[in-house]
Amino acid sequence: MGDEKRGLREEARELFKLFFEKSKDVQKATAQTIKEITDKTLKEVQPSKEKVKEITEGILEGIQDTRKEVGGRLEGVIKTLQELTERATSTVREVITGVVEGVEEVSEKEKREECLKYIKERRSVTFFDPDREVPDEVLKDILNIAALAPSGYNLQPWEVIVVKSRDKKKKLREICYNQEKVEEASANIVIIANTNAAEEHVDRVLDSWVELGYIKEEERDSLRETILAGWKSPERRKRKAIRDSALFAMSVMIVARYFGLETHPMEGFDEAKLKRFLGIGRGKLVPLIVAIGYRHPEKELLPRAYRFKFEEFGKIV
Ligand SMILES: Cc1cc2nc3c(=O)[nH]c(=O)nc-3n(C[C@H](O)[C@H](O)[C@H](O)COP(=O)(O)O)c2cc1C
Repeated sequence: MGDEKRGLREEARELFKLFFEKSKDVQKATAQTIKEITDKTLKEVQPSKEKVKEITEGILEGIQDTRKEVGGRLEGVIKTLQELTERATSTVREVITGVVEGVEEVSEKEKREECLKYIKERRSVTFFDPDREVPDEVLKDILNIAALAPSGYNLQPWEVIVVKSRDKKKKLREICYNQEKVEEASANIVIIANTNAAEEHVDRVLDSWVELGYIKEEERDSLRETILAGWKSPERRKRKAIRDSALFAMSVMIVARYFGLETHPMEGFDEAKLKRFLGIGRGKLVPLIVAIGYRHPEKELLPRAYRFKFEEFGKIV
C-alpha cells in the first residue's frame, strides 16, 4: 500500500468515526465523510476508479471499527459501499453521489424496520431475569417518552406508581393473585386512570395552547367549558380516562423494547386491595399493571398465539 493510499484511507476512516461520534448517525457520518474526502480529492488529484476505491475502503474500515458499538444496523451500509466500490467506473462525484443516496436509503429503511420490529417482537413476557435491575433513570426515560401518547384534548389522564422495592413487589404479587412475574420483573408500572383529569389538567393544557398560538386568549373560556362538558357524566369520565391511559400503557410497552426491555400487561389483580396498598384515592381506577424488566436469559416463551386477521376484525367502507 503506497503512502498516499494509506493516507487517504486512514483519513476517511478517522473522519467517519469522528462524524459518527458527533452525530451517532451512520447516514450523516458517511455522507459527511464522503463529501469532505471527495472535495479534497478533486482538488488535489485526478479522479479515477482507483481513487474511489481508496475512499470507500477507508470509510468501510471506519464503519467496521464502529460496528461493534451499534450492532447489525451497519450491515446494509457496508454492503452498499462494497457494491459501489466494485462498480466504480464513473467519475468520483457520480459514484460518491450514488454512495450517499444508497446510504440514505439503507439507513431510512433500517430505521423503519427497527420501528416495526419493536411492535412485532413485543410479547407478554412471562420470564424476567430476577437478578437484573432496570435503573430508575431508564424507567423515567421510558415513561417520559410514552407520555407523548395522544389523549382527548391532550388532557393526559394517566398517572403511574412504579413498584420496584423488593418488599413492595412481594406484597404486590399477592394482590396480583400470586403471579410470579410480578416479583421477578425489575418493576411493575401501575397505570392509573384519573377520572378527575379534566378539571385538574385543563388549565395547564389551555395555557400551553394560548402560549403556542393554537387558540386566542378570548377563546379560552368557551373552550374550557366545552372540554369540561365532555367529562360531565361519571360514565364518560371513566371511559375517557381508561381509554387514554390504555394508549399510554401501549406506548410504555413499545418504548420499553427500544431500551432492550420486556413487559407484561396484567389485569389479574384485586383492584380494591391494590388501591388500599398504594393509597390510590377515589376517582382513580387501575385498568392494568405493566411488569417490566429484562428477559430471562434461558427460559423460552411459547410461540405467539393466534391473531385475527383484518378480514375477520375489520372492513373498509
Ligand atoms: C390489559 C391486559 C391484561 C392482561 N392481563 C394479564 C394477566 O393478568 N396475566 C397474564 O398472564 N397475562 C395477561 N395479559 C397478557 C395476555 O394474555 C397477552 O397479551 C395475550 O395472550 C397475547 O400474547 P402476547 O402479548 O405475547 O402477544 C394481559 C394483556 C392485556 C392487554
